[in-house]
Amino acid sequence: MQRLAGKVAIVTGGGGGIGSATALRLAREGAKVVCADINLETAQRAADALEGNGLALRFDAADADSIEAMVTQTVEHFGRLDILHNNTAITDPQTHGQDLSLLEIPMEVWRKTLDVNLTGYMLACRFAIPHMIEAGGGSIINTASGSGTKGDLVRIAYGTSKAAIINMTRHIATQYGRQGVRCNAIAPGVIVTPAMEATAPQILAFASKYVLTKRLGTPEDIAALTAFLASDESGYITGECIEINGGKNSCQPHFAELYQQTRQTSD
Ligand SMILES: NC(=O)c1ccc[n+]([C@@H]2O[C@H](COP(=O)([O-])OP(=O)(O)OC[C@H]3O[C@@H](n4cnc5c(N)ncnc54)[C@H](O)[C@@H]3O)[C@@H](O)[C@H]2O)c1
Repeated sequence: MQRLAGKVAIVTGGGGGIGSATALRLAREGAKVVCADINLETAQRAADALEGNGLALRFDAADADSIEAMVTQTVEHFGRLDILHNNTAITDPQTHGQDLSLLEIPMEVWRKTLDVNLTGYMLACRFAIPHMIEAGGGSIINTASGSGTKGDLVRIAYGTSKAAIINMTRHIATQYGRQGVRCNAIAPGVIVTPAMEATAPQILAFASKYVLTKRLGTPEDIAALTAFLASDESGYITGECIEINGGKNSCQPHFAELYQQTRQTSD
């Protein structure tokens, strides 16, 4: 499928598990893709896989100047900008390990998480949208998370940043829709990335119990949804947050133990 022929995309966090898979999918569908990441080495690897249709850029989502430079360099290099996939997030175990409850979280972890995960997305949209309007329209896909739709015992900053992304997405869709810019969010559940397999394999075993599908999600699942939202095939979809989680929120498997006990009692 060449649904994105002639389009230019930025994928932030483009060196990561989901970002590199999405960059590959967008390029296979015909787009020129900028893989932008704080880690230039992984971004370069992702861009090299795009067979001449990729460009690697280093940027820091906590630094407004570097976000603006990422957008400017994209337009200078490829001549336009049609698609922005905001996908960066702080995922390192050290920071996540300190993102605990309201009373426990250090203020610097709260601020850093909101800076990178939320303000970084806002600024990328702000710098990208004028170029999209100039190109006749565009599509923004912001990566939220299942953590942005539910409370939790830990990760208050991560969850808050992801929840804010969902409503920021609706604001942007409302403010620029008539100028041709669509803006949607995606909220992944547990997705099996190389980083997660390496650092938290126990989450994968645990999550397998709570999805309705026979397997857990992969970066390619996110890439496929992002490519659809980037393409004109989703032209009537904007301001939405699409959950992609194997049906996890459609059931109440945490009651399974209770049901088992009840059955045993009645047997
Ligand atoms: N993997 C999952 O199960 C899952 C679930 C829900 C949501 N998500 C979201 O999906 C997105 C991608 O996650 P992933 O699993 O591929 O993780 P990942 O760690 O592989 O990718 C994140 C990327 O962001 C980059 N990054 C971090 N800080 C940055 C900064 N300051 N500036 C620029 N780049 C920076 C990292 O270098 C990394 O390449 C994130 O937004 C994450 O919150 C993932």
